[in-house]
Amino acid sequence: MSKAYVHGYHHRENMRLQDQASTLVELLHSDTSYPAGSLVLEAGCGVGAQTVTLARSSPRALITSIDISRSSLLEAKRKILSAGLTNIQFQQADISNLPSGQPSRP
Ligand SMILES: C[S@@+](CC[C@H](N)C(=O)[O-])C[C@H]1O[C@@H](n2cnc3c(N)ncnc32)[C@H](O)[C@@H]1O
Repeated sequence: MSKAYVHGYHHRENMRLQDQASTLVELLHSDTSYPAGSLVLEAGCGVGAQTVTLARSSPRALITSIDISRSSLLEAKRKILSAGLTNIQFQQADISNLPSGQPSRP
């Protein structure tokens, strides 16, 4: 099986993922809230379209958002910074070969 993946960073794909996340947010995350102290892994965060929602609804959980694409992560970081959220850390990683170790708490 090829390891090629079609979702790289592209402005139009960024916009599409953002639109998709906005449409699905009620359906997917309306009751998503992690308790204080939770360590949450968001695998394949892309441009952070859902990261903002997750981080906002669980302000006392620490969310580690990973993606294989550096350019998508840069866009995700930009979104989180402009939303003023601090309970997320980003890491460039492959979900089929995750680095070991615990996330460091802020
Ligand atoms: C369809 S996008 C979804 C992005 C985001 N979760 C959303 O809903 O908007 C899938 C993401 O998974 C990432 N991805 C694909 N294969 C990966 C892998 N092996 N490890 C980490 N991320 C991966 C891609 O770079 C892409 O950003």
